[in-house]
Amino acid sequence: SESRDLLGLRIVITAGPTVEDIDPVRYLSNRSSGKMGYALARQAVARGASVTLVSGPTHLDPVSGAKMVYVRSTEQMLSGVQEAMEDADVLIAAAAPADYRPARVFGQKWKKLDGLPQIELEETPDILATINRSRVHGQTLVGFAAETRDVVSFGKRKLEEKGLDLIVVNDVSQPGAGFDVDTNQVVLLSKSGDVDPLPMMAKSSVADRILTQVKQIRGQRNGE
Ligand code: PMT
Repeated sequence: SESRDLLGLRIVITAGPTVEDIDPVRYLSNRSSGKMGYALARQAVARGASVTLVSGPTHLDPVSGAKMVYVRSTEQMLSGVQEAMEDADVLIAAAAPADYRPARVFGQKWKKLDGLPQIELEETPDILATINRSRVHGQTLVGFAAETRDVVSFGKRKLEEKGLDLIVVNDVSQPGAGFDVDTNQVVLLSKSGDVDPLPMMAKSSVADRILTQVKQIRGQRNGE
C-alpha cells in the first residue's frame, strides 16, 4: 500500500461483535470475528494514521501501533467511540454491534427448575446515528451494511438514514464474504452517488480500498 499517505489523519475504527448479557453465564451476540475492523486498523497504522480501535470481544491479537479500547456491550462501544471521536477526523464502523439486548439481566444463573426464561428484548443505541447527531464539522463517517439481499438499495437507505459519507456493503450470505472469513466482497457507495463494486479480495486489500476512498473524500472536503 501507499507509504505513510495517511499521516496526520486521526481514525477511529470499530471491530467485532458486541455481547449483551442474559444472566451471569449466557449472552446474545453474533458471528463477527473482528477480522474486517482489525484489518482496517492494521492498514491505517501502516499508512501513518493515528488509530483508535474500539473492539468487542474477539480472538485476535491487538494491533500494534493502535490505541486499543476493549468493550463488551453496544452501550460500552458507544461510550468508547464517543470519547475517541472528541479527538478524531474519521469514524469507520466495521463492528457488528448487537441491535437488541435483554430488557433486564438476571442477577443469578437461570436454572431449568425456574422454568422457561421469558427474555424481553429492547433496542440498543445506534452508534453511527448517535455520532452523526453530535458530529463536529468536517468529521467523516463510514459505515458498513451487512445485508443478505438487495444489497445496493438497502445500503443506500442506510447511507442516508445514518448520515454517512461512505458505506461498505457486503452480502453476508455469499461464501467468501462477510463474517469470519479472511476475504470479503463489497460495494462502496458514496454520498456523492458513486457505486464501486469490488471483486472478492483479502480483507487487508478491502481495507486499503476503503482507506483510499476516505482519503479522497477528505481531499475533496479540504479543497472546498
Ligand atoms: O468481523 P468479521 O468476521 O470480519 O465480519 C465483518 C462484518 C461482516 C462484521 C463487517 O464487514 C460488517 O458488515 N460490519 C457491519 C455489521 C453490521 O452491524 O451491519 P448493520 O447493517 O447491522 O449495521 C449498519 C452499520 O451501523 C454498521 O456500520 C454498524 O457498525 C453500525 N451500527 C449497527 C448497530 C448499532 N447499534 N450501531 C451501529 O452503529
